[in-house]
Amino acid sequence: MSTLDDIAKTEGLDDLYPLFARERYTAGWHKKRRSLWEEPKTEFRPRHWSYAEAHAALDQASQWIDTELAERRNLLMFNPVGDNDYDTVRTLVTAYQLIQPGEHARAHKHTPNALRLILDAGPELFTVVNGVKLPMVPGDVLLTPGECWHSHFNDGNETACWIDFLDVPLVHRLEPMFYTEHPDVYQKVEQTPDAHPFWFKRADINAALDKVTPDEAGIRRHVLDSQDHILTMELTCLALPNGATLGPVRDTVSRIYAATKGSGTFRSGEHEFNWKRGDIFAAPAWARHEITANEDSDIFEVCDKPVMEKLGFLRAE
Ligand SMILES: [Fe+2]
Repeated sequence: MSTLDDIAKTEGLDDLYPLFARERYTAGWHKKRRSLWEEPKTEFRPRHWSYAEAHAALDQASQWIDTELAERRNLLMFNPVGDNDYDTVRTLVTAYQLIQPGEHARAHKHTPNALRLILDAGPELFTVVNGVKLPMVPGDVLLTPGECWHSHFNDGNETACWIDFLDVPLVHRLEPMFYTEHPDVYQKVEQTPDAHPFWFKRADINAALDKVTPDEAGIRRHVLDSQDHILTMELTCLALPNGATLGPVRDTVSRIYAATKGSGTFRSGEHEFNWKRGDIFAAPAWARHEITANEDSDIFEVCDKPVMEKLGFLRAE
């Protein structure tokens, strides 16, 4: 008996539906769930994570897990949606990463793009990207674009911690994932430049911010010149004077914020969090949100706006 025979024998829709299920069709008039809705309705929620907590937990964990075992000793921040235990927002993930004196994190490369915001570090902390040694200094931002070899070294004697931002969730959704471990485990250092397009020094960021005219709320913003290297994320440094409020913001962009100086509040709907230096807070797409500084504050914002823009999906309220 063929499917065509089975279809011919049906006497009503109720006979057809089991056939559809068996042959993997869904009747457009008989869907289990809607496929279109009036406006974005993500299940992702605004969240806040504490640097003090994450740092203490990673420091504690380093008694039991070293970089040999872990490759990367990091703590990812996930949004509790369904069985998700990875994505911070729909397209992006963020993690605190801690590396103890003398530790090295092995070289690998992958299609997802990554960048790091350095929080705390002593001398002789550095990343090697494609053979180029780039120091990791507090406040700096370093890019490791997709398919660049990267490894991290703490040759000093202070515990170091930074924040990783990656577009891995976007790569999971679109599926172009490739990952390779370096054949020599660590890369040879071939260059130690004083400046590099992947290296944004805090002093240069501050100098750029100083030249910006504040908006009506008194906020200065400087977008890092990273888009030739990472196409999926936009990186913005924000300087909020005491009392200033950013927003309300509501658009189709997913955002992760990291406070690099100061303290304040982050509000979105019924969610309200107090943040301070080193903390992370995330605003999923279409979550109307506001950020207020309770002292002069600096915030680093990573978002997927370039993706939404290029695909024609950028909409703001
Ligand atoms: Fe990596």
